[in-house]
Amino acid sequence: MLFGKKPKALDPVDLAQLPQHIAIIMDGNGRWARRRHLPRSGGHAAGAETFRNIATYTKEIGLHYLTVYAFSTENWKRPKDEVDAIMRLLRDYLDEALRDMEKNQIHMAFWGDLSPLDPELRALCERVEFTSRKYDKCNVHICLNYGGRDELLHAARGFAADCAAGKREPGELTEALFGSYLYTAGVPDPDLIIRPSGEQRLSNFLLWQAAYAEFYFTDVCWPDFKKEHLLQAIHAYQLRQRRFGGT
Ligand code: IPE
Ligand code: IPE
Ligand code: MG
Repeated sequence: MLFGKKPKALDPVDLAQLPQHIAIIMDGNGRWARRRHLPRSGGHAAGAETFRNIATYTKEIGLHYLTVYAFSTENWKRPKDEVDAIMRLLRDYLDEALRDMEKNQIHMAFWGDLSPLDPELRALCERVEFTSRKYDKCNVHICLNYGGRDELLHAARGFAADCAAGKREPGELTEALFGSYLYTAGVPDPDLIIRPSGEQRLSNFLLWQAAYAEFYFTDVCWPDFKKEHLLQAIHAYQLRQRRFGGT
């Protein structure tokens, strides 16, 4: 298997058969920093740079949907200075995304409960999402204060409220209708979920949507993740046989 191996640049990837949707759990920033005797915030800064490169590269190869896990509902447990550093990096990235929007032509959306964020940062997220909505070839979703369980509760509450308001009937709930209450409404489920850093768990990421996703794990920490690693993951994906419960 290819797990954790140094990428071989020449592994053939069929760019005509890309997965439609790749999701990445951007993990390992802290360990990357610790190994270099840097503060954890240095790891997050390096991770933000990786994200810039990978988002640009996915657009270049023609991927339609890229989703990244940037901050979970559980990540508030971290020291305040670390959380502040992550939010600052996000703000810098969004300022830059606004500035370079015409050049990049990437639609960006945010999945998660943005209400606890600093109002300025929240407004910036909304502005980026709104102004980039016209670019539909490459869609990047940033999961921010996102939790799969929280998303399911949010959807259940939304449906219950619609029932209480007489807009829906409990008996009409189907998987498709429930999906329309999720943050991911209208976006196909991820085909491939990549987690760097050696951890092999979902950590509350896309619990509903991951039902038939393929997984790819690598020991490389996110700041060291290069386009070759992405190609390696896509290559591994292209060797899989997906059955979706069939034969
Ligand atoms: C991922 O890297 C970034 C966030 C969760 C915000 P970590 O900060 O979790 O890095 P490790 O897992 O401690 O190495
Ligand atoms: C998952 O990573 C969340 C993000 C990458 C944003 P964590 O580092 O928070 O997950 P655990 O704690 O190792 O499960
Ligand atoms: Mg981690």
